[in-house]
Amino acid sequence: MIDLKTKYAGLTLRNPIIVGSSGLTINPERNKEYDKAGAGAIVLKSLFEEQIEMHGDQLMQNEYYPEAEDYIRAYARTHQVNNYLEIIQKTKELCSIPVIASINCYKADSWIDFAKQIELAGADALELNVFFLETELTHNCEDIYNTYIRILRQVKEAVSIPIIIKIGKFIGNIPALVNILKANGADGVVMFNRFYQPDIDINSMQLVSGQVFSHHSDLSDTIRWTAVVAGKVPGISIASSTGVHDWEDVIKCILAGASAVQMCSAIYTHGAEIISQVLTCMEEWMHQSNFESIDEFRGKLSYANIANPAMYERVQFMKYFANRD
Ligand SMILES: Cc1cc2nc3c(=O)[nH]c(=O)nc-3n(C[C@H](O)[C@H](O)[C@H](O)COP(=O)(O)O)c2cc1C
Repeated sequence: MIDLKTKYAGLTLRNPIIVGSSGLTINPERNKEYDKAGAGAIVLKSLFEEQIEMHGDQLMQNEYYPEAEDYIRAYARTHQVNNYLEIIQKTKELCSIPVIASINCYKADSWIDFAKQIELAGADALELNVFFLETELTHNCEDIYNTYIRILRQVKEAVSIPIIIKIGKFIGNIPALVNILKANGADGVVMFNRFYQPDIDINSMQLVSGQVFSHHSDLSDTIRWTAVVAGKVPGISIASSTGVHDWEDVIKCILAGASAVQMCSAIYTHGAEIISQVLTCMEEWMHQSNFESIDEFRGKLSYANIANPAMYERVQFMKYFANRD
């Protein structure tokens, strides 16, 4: 009997497929479809710190009363936050699977109350998408780590649901960051968030949006860092994200050491049905490979468990170039 159950950040999921935070998960009725299609959990669309600030700016655009600024900003915040709490409550009513709320933030202070309300609204966990691309010449890695730690500690003190940190891949030393996050109480990490991709239109000579969805080839980085972090930082759950497009990708991430995966671009492209297809194929593969549970093969190919872990650290294509004209 095949059992796809997995433990992720203190939650028990019926299987490792999590619908990733995006426009896919903003509507409670649609979230019910992911539940029906078999998903293990859902991460709701993030509430963006920037979005709330922008809403406040818009409200003040036409008539600006400096003395009313604080009031208007507080109104914008309450309005957006209340909408978000409703999405949590409604999704919880309609779905049987864990519902993970998501905040997209770069400062901690303003989110503490909100994190408490999210917990009260019934979210099973909170994913913090700590979101910034560091470009300051004077900032070093320590400044970046300190931002993560400050946000994590303050939110951890405020709530008792599991806290998951979603990180980007453009951070100096990923295993070191995850180790610090674990030491400061993170229950899980999502590797990785996909940043907005800029492109250049050479005809209009303007900066334009590049590919919104990930590509299959993005999975390689996800596998590498899942394997290295799982091997070097045991004891923190990993959800592999970016480039997970089919059932084989899911198996690869679990072999590398993930407790779960998040899928977003693939569901945008193929619809909720892909979830049940992935689950069926996973069961077949497990049956053929004589595995009855996810735990039997999780991390089999992590950095800690392969004969030559340096393979994961290899960055040059020496052999490839040596054989080319
Ligand atoms: C249209 C779109 C909207 C997204 N919105 C969010 C969001 O609100 N919060 C967030 O943390 N990630 C967001 N993401 C990132 C996804 O959750 C995910 O990390 C990323 O797409 C990589 O996974 P994938 O390869 O399965 O697409 C968004 C992605 C897409 C494509």
